[in-house]
Amino acid sequence: RGPDTYSPTGQPTGADQADVAQSGERLTTAQGARLYDTDHSLKAGPRGPVLLQDHHLREKITHFDHERIPERVVHARGAAAHGVFQGYGAAEGICKAAFLGKDVETPVFVRFSTVLGSRGSADTVRDTRGFATKFYTSEGVFDLVGNNIPVFFIQDAIKFPDVIHAGKPHPDREIPQAQSAHDTFWDFVTLHTEATHHTLWNMSDRGIPRSYRMMEGFGVHTFRLVNAAGATTLVKFHWKPKLGVHSQVWEEAQITAGMDPDFHRRDLADAIEAGAFPQWELGVQTFPDTEDQMFQGIDLLDPTKIVPEELAPVQPIGLLTLNANPSNYFAETEQVAFHVGHLVPGIDVTNDPLLQGRLFSYVDTQLTRLGGPNFAQLPINRTHAPVNDMLRDGMHQTAVHRGVAPYRPNSLDGGCPFLAGADTGAYIEVPVEVPAAHKVREAAASFDDHYTQPRLFWLSMSPTEREHIVTAYTFELNKCYETAIKERALRSLANIDAELCAQVATGLGLPAPAATVALADPQPSPALSQLGGRWPLD
Ligand code: HEM
Repeated sequence: RGPDTYSPTGQPTGADQADVAQSGERLTTAQGARLYDTDHSLKAGPRGPVLLQDHHLREKITHFDHERIPERVVHARGAAAHGVFQGYGAAEGICKAAFLGKDVETPVFVRFSTVLGSRGSADTVRDTRGFATKFYTSEGVFDLVGNNIPVFFIQDAIKFPDVIHAGKPHPDREIPQAQSAHDTFWDFVTLHTEATHHTLWNMSDRGIPRSYRMMEGFGVHTFRLVNAAGATTLVKFHWKPKLGVHSQVWEEAQITAGMDPDFHRRDLADAIEAGAFPQWELGVQTFPDTEDQMFQGIDLLDPTKIVPEELAPVQPIGLLTLNANPSNYFAETEQVAFHVGHLVPGIDVTNDPLLQGRLFSYVDTQLTRLGGPNFAQLPINRTHAPVNDMLRDGMHQTAVHRGVAPYRPNSLDGGCPFLAGADTGAYIEVPVEVPAAHKVREAAASFDDHYTQPRLFWLSMSPTEREHIVTAYTFELNKCYETAIKERALRSLANIDAELCAQVATGLGLPAPAATVALADPQPSPALSQLGGRWPLD
């Protein structure tokens, strides 16, 4: 598939789109008028002032002046690829979504990203990575908007602006560009101790992937699947890379960031161009949809918790293959708009308060980023399923709607056929009971334990992996100006493990405090220690 024939959405092909902007032999204005010179502006004499009446000059410069759109408020730096998802049929018993059916092939577009750096920042920084997948299914678009770390910093979306403000560059000097090594970040994550788990993953080798092709992906939240009979199952989504999980060591990351800041996007594009198509298996951990939505004492609605894989193994349900690079970065990678609310029949959300806030946030930010309400019409965002909505007009409307009655039912434009099939549609509420409750601004007590799982993660690490974690904390915390923040970070580490705390304290030249919570002593799990980098799929 070359750039001329490639169709990211199955709608107008790349060639058709080029017909609009790049057909004919001759250079023209945007209105199609032929030009004979694009190198000289119209002047009053060869050495005279430029004339305002020069339409070509003004059109060319005005358009250039407006070429940039706002970068994403988070995940600004990314790289993407097209591919195909093939269902194994293994999920058919728990999910009616057509794209999970056996051998069903669905086009996809996947965007990988860092979180904090700006669009021009380096790839190999220590950060979380985004792993967002758009499935163009026969039943509409499904977006799985995940990360390469299975837990998140916060438990409630209302803190999202705060954690991002803490992690983004300081407002006065705009330093640092793309790393977590500064006071506000460490201030936040030590005051909001639910961030301890995610931060520990960041300080581990997971914070510096070797390649996008060698990262796991996680949906993080618990989702609710619905089968054809209406029965529900709670799940967590996982992407398992066929190439295994690999990281750079810190020194490598420094060198690659300096010598090739585009290291990850180059790696992805080169591999695909060479025909070495990266692959991931999609898997699910499944849990009974019980009233309390707990599993073995773990609150499934708490996005700072994993469910260890030996308690709930990841069951493969399909294969993702990335096989084509974008033909235009702006049209595809930059304009793609993911949304956790883009769901298809058979997949539903849960009450996870982080997920609930995300449902609002993505479309809201895209209204600004993509200039109004019609970004679903952009080729990369267009569904492959037929669209028959009642949305009309607005900035950048490209559809020419017919009929006079954009409301249903109506007696002027024909019936309302969609109502006949209502029971098979998306957004049909699973009749989950909402417990009678009074309004509160508080979290469940089951969200309170912030240290058991970080300790589990630490104990599952090999000696080398632990050494990397100690070095990372020591390096990053040493960048803080405020001693009080370093001391608070050490108190947090003491609640994970005394040895970890002692080693980092030595590196910081500070005394090691004692733990303030009783350390639970979970057994290191074989499955978790494999998460350190060697996940066998074959
Ligand atoms: C963008 C993941 C939490 C707001 C993204 C992207 C990913 C992602 C992968 C990049 C999408 C792309 O490539 O275009 C996650 C994960 C989260 C999380 C896994 C937690 C588990 C949140 C929360 C909020 C939020 C809680 C807000 C309340 C945003 C916004 C963008 C974004 C505003 C930019 C979207 C755009 O401009 O297109 N997120 N996010 N995220 N996320 Fe999240």
